[in-house]
Formats: sequence, C-alpha cells, structure tokens
Amino acid sequence: MVKIAVLVSGGGTNLQALIDAEKAGRLEQGQITLVLSSKAGVYALERARQAGIPSEVLRRKDFSTEDGYASALLGLLREREIGLVVLAGFLTILPDAVCKAYENQIINIHPSLIPSFCGEGFYGLRVHEAALAKGVKLSGATVHFVSRVVDGGAIIAQKAVAVEPDDTPALLQRRIMEQAEWEILPQAVSDFCAGRLLVRDGKVYRKS
Ligand code: GRF
Repeated sequence: MVKIAVLVSGGGTNLQALIDAEKAGRLEQGQITLVLSSKAGVYALERARQAGIPSEVLRRKDFSTEDGYASALLGLLREREIGLVVLAGFLTILPDAVCKAYENQIINIHPSLIPSFCGEGFYGLRVHEAALAKGVKLSGATVHFVSRVVDGGAIIAQKAVAVEPDDTPALLQRRIMEQAEWEILPQAVSDFCAGRLLVRDGKVYRKS
C-alpha cells in the first residue's frame, strides 16, 4: 500500500475526487493518509476532517528560510512514510530539496493542456483567462510529475475539454474540473500506486 499525502491550498475539489475514488475502491494500492494545507481555514481541511483523514497546516511564511520550510515539510512526509505526494491546487512552490527527495513521487494537476498556459504565474483563473484571450477551441487538464521547472515535469495524462463560445474563465474552469481533472487525477494516482507508471528519458509510459 502506498501512503499518499495530498497538498492543498483551497477548496479541495480534487482532494474530494481522490477521497471519493478511494472510497469506491478506485485507488487500488493507494491510501490517503495525510492532507497538508498551506493555509488554515480552507475548505479542503474540512473535507479531510469529514473523511477522517489526518491533516496539518504548514505555512511557508512561518519559516525565515527555504531550508527551514523544506526540512519541516520533509520531516512530516518522512515521519508518515509518505510514498506519493499529490499537489491538488497547492499554491506554494515546493523547495528544490523536496522535489529532489521525492523525485518521480510528486504528482501535480494543472488545468490546461501543457505546454500551453503553464509555468510561473499560471494558476487559478489566470490559466483560463489566458486560454480565452488566445481563442483556443480546446483546453483541458494535465497530470504530471513535478520537477524543478514549474509545470515542466514528465506528463502522465491529459484530457481535452471543448471551449464554448460564451465561456467565462469561471465556466471554463468548472467544465475542465468536471470533465477532466476529477477523472484523470484519481486515475493517475491509482496507476502510480499500482506500479503502472514508468519514467524514462523524461517521458512516462503506462504499463497495461
Ligand atoms: C485546480 O484547477 C487544479 O487544476 C489547480 O488548482 C485548482 C484546485 O482546485 N492546480 P481544488 O482546490 O482542487 O478545488
């Protein structure tokens, strides 16, 4: 069984999709054993409480150095024997030391088809504003491993979603969550935990 930590900063709908998948037996060899938030009082923490999952709040601003933050975070993950870290709307950039210690064991969900509309500054509604400003007809979501380059790690899964003529950033954001994110994130987590993902030369291969 792979112990999973889900890192959050907000509403936690992707966390909920993972909780629901686990309850339905769709995470195979995975178990969510920790929810870690970068902010107190967010609804994702309430979702964890309702599901009976232990949670912690760790705020970057409570540490004067990146090293201090990195060792606190790594300490928590190691103490709980975490084998997979899932960034589900986590808005703090992970320190290099954490990326290195958990290489190919950290998964992120991004609400666009990478390499479009990604990288530093592309988060929340900004991603969808940029997609609408460009006039793309398809957007979607990407699950990828986390490397030191923001949104630059090996791609695990993608799903395209149509952009509608009257879309607003909020409408597009919601459609991408419903039609793509909540489906491909639990599937990717399940594939990881079942040992089906192979990373070679910066690419992910899925064993059947
Ligand atoms: C999602 O759109 C995800 O793709 C992005 O942040 C958002 C988090 O939403 N990384 P939620 O907290 O899971 O509802």
